[in-house]
Amino acid sequence: MTADDLKKQAAARALELVQPGMRLGLGTGSTAKHFVDLLGERVAAGLDVICVATSEATQAQALSLAIPMSTLDETPELDLTVDGADELDSALRLIKGGGAALLREKIVAAASRRMVVIADDGKLVGKLGRFPLPIEVVPFGLEVTRRAVAKAIAEAGAAGELTLRKRPDGEVLVTDGGHYILDAHLGTIDHPEALAQALNIVPGVVEHGLFIGLAAMAILAGAGGLTILGA
Ligand code: A5P
Repeated sequence: MTADDLKKQAAARALELVQPGMRLGLGTGSTAKHFVDLLGERVAAGLDVICVATSEATQAQALSLAIPMSTLDETPELDLTVDGADELDSALRLIKGGGAALLREKIVAAASRRMVVIADDGKLVGKLGRFPLPIEVVPFGLEVTRRAVAKAIAEAGAAGELTLRKRPDGEVLVTDGGHYILDAHLGTIDHPEALAQALNIVPGVVEHGLFIGLAAMAILAGAGGLTILGA
């Protein structure tokens, strides 16, 4: 079974949580893409839902499948958001943003009564930080912000290189919100809450990829079947 098969299995299980009439947040990334594909099949068969996307890519995919789409301004309260993650721990703390959509992902997750993570079980770690932590920053004053981020990381007891994310063609990656991403290569994050709080107050930081207290449930697919964390 490939990693992609596992992602699809997790997505299929999450689809069972969807009820007619729900307002849904649609995540971003290769795992969330499976969920949107499967949801599209259900919508084509008559399921009535209204959805908000966490990225331009997901919006385009959903529209191509004729899934009814709204905006957070029109639909500010969502019942359920289903999204992937780059890493998670057993306390359902996440690192997200590998696909550069962390800002909208966090806004949508926070607007949802329930956020459910779908992933292959290789994403479950004992301690967060092996995956570089994405930190979305405004382009203005980048060097000043980079230094302040490095200081905040050190104050939270972590350490590691910060790299400005580039696109495959070598140009600086610009997010859907018009920002840059600094990836923090920390190895381990001993105090995720402290780091999140320290980053929250750095001027120039728009958002970071630590999602703490947002996910209620994780559906993890592995060779031995599905594992459910939370409820
Ligand atoms: C997008 O910004 C990310 O938060 C994704 O949700 C995350 O990177 C997981 O992506 P995959 O499902 O492609 O691993």
